[in-house]
Amino acid sequence: MATQKSSRSKKSKVTVPKRKVRTPVPSKYALYEASVQSPDVHAAWLDETYKAITKGTARNIREDFCGTFKMSCEWVKRHAKNTALGLDLDPEPLNYGRETHLSALTPDQKSRVKLLQKNVLESTRTDVDLISAGNFSFYIFKQRELLVKYFKSCKTSLKKGGLLVLELAGGPGMIAPMREKKEVLLNRNEKFVYTWHQKSFDPITHDANYAIHFKLASGRVMLDQFVYDWRLWSIPEVRDALADAGFSKSIIYWETAHQGKGTGEYLPMERGDNAFAWVSYVIGVK
Ligand SMILES: C[S@@+](CC[C@H](N)C(=O)[O-])C[C@H]1O[C@@H](n2cnc3c(N)ncnc32)[C@H](O)[C@@H]1O
Repeated sequence: MATQKSSRSKKSKVTVPKRKVRTPVPSKYALYEASVQSPDVHAAWLDETYKAITKGTARNIREDFCGTFKMSCEWVKRHAKNTALGLDLDPEPLNYGRETHLSALTPDQKSRVKLLQKNVLESTRTDVDLISAGNFSFYIFKQRELLVKYFKSCKTSLKKGGLLVLELAGGPGMIAPMREKKEVLLNRNEKFVYTWHQKSFDPITHDANYAIHFKLASGRVMLDQFVYDWRLWSIPEVRDALADAGFSKSIIYWETAHQGKGTGEYLPMERGDNAFAWVSYVIGVK
C-alpha cells in the first residue's frame, strides 16, 4: 500500500495518446432515402392522382414494401383524417423508421400510422382507398401465380373503386450492365456518392440483379448495401395479371417528354415513347 501511495504522489509525466475523432457512419437507410426518395412529392402525387381518377378523396392508404415508411409519415401530415398502414417483412427498416420518422410526428399524427411486420401477400383491413407499391418492389414476385395472388390480396383490402398504384421501371437502360453514380447531399452539409449497379439481366427469364453502393466523404466504401433479385415485368404483363386478379381496369401513367427528356410529369396514356430508361405507374382500379 505504502509503495502505491508514494508512487501516486510522484508527479510523473504521462503521455496520453491523442484520440482520433471519428465521424459517425450514417445509417444505410438515411443514405438510401436521400438518394432515391421524395416522399412528400410522392404523397402529393398520390393524392392528386386519386382525385383525378375517382373524383373522390383518399384518406386511408396502405404503403406496401414500406421499408422506413417515410411516405406514410408524409401522408398523415397532409390531413387530420389521413391514415396510413405500412407493411414490410423486415423489422430493421421498420425500426429505423420508428426511431427516425415516427418519433418526429405529433401524438395525433403518430396515432394515424400503423405498421405491420407482415407479408404483403396476406390481406389486411378492407377499407383502404389506395395501396402504393413504390420503387419497383413488387418485382420481387417472379412467378405469375404469386403476382396474381398479390394483386388479388390487394383487391380484397381495397374499397370498391380503390386504387393499386404500382411503380415500374424498364427500357434498354434498365437491362444494360452498368453503374450509374450521382453525388447526393445528406443533411444539407455532408456529400456522398450513390451508385446504382445493374449487375445482370437474363433475356429469357427477365431475372435482373441490382445493387446499391455508397461512398462517403471520408473515403469509406459501403458495397452492396441493398441488393435486388427481381423479375422485370412488362407493362402489358402487369395489366393482364391485374385483369386476372379481378381489377375492373388499369390506367398507365407515363412520363411526358420535352425535346426527348423526361419532365417529371406523369399523365394517363395508352401509347408511350420508346424511352431508353423509363419509370411509369400502372394503376389497377377495383
Ligand atoms: C426496394 S425496398 C422498398 C422500400 C421503399 N418502399 C421505397 O420505396 O423506397 C423493398 C422492401 O420490401 C420488403 N419486402 C420484400 N418482400 C416483401 C413481402 N413479401 N412482404 C412485405 N415486404 C416485403 C423488403 O423488406 C424491403 O424493405
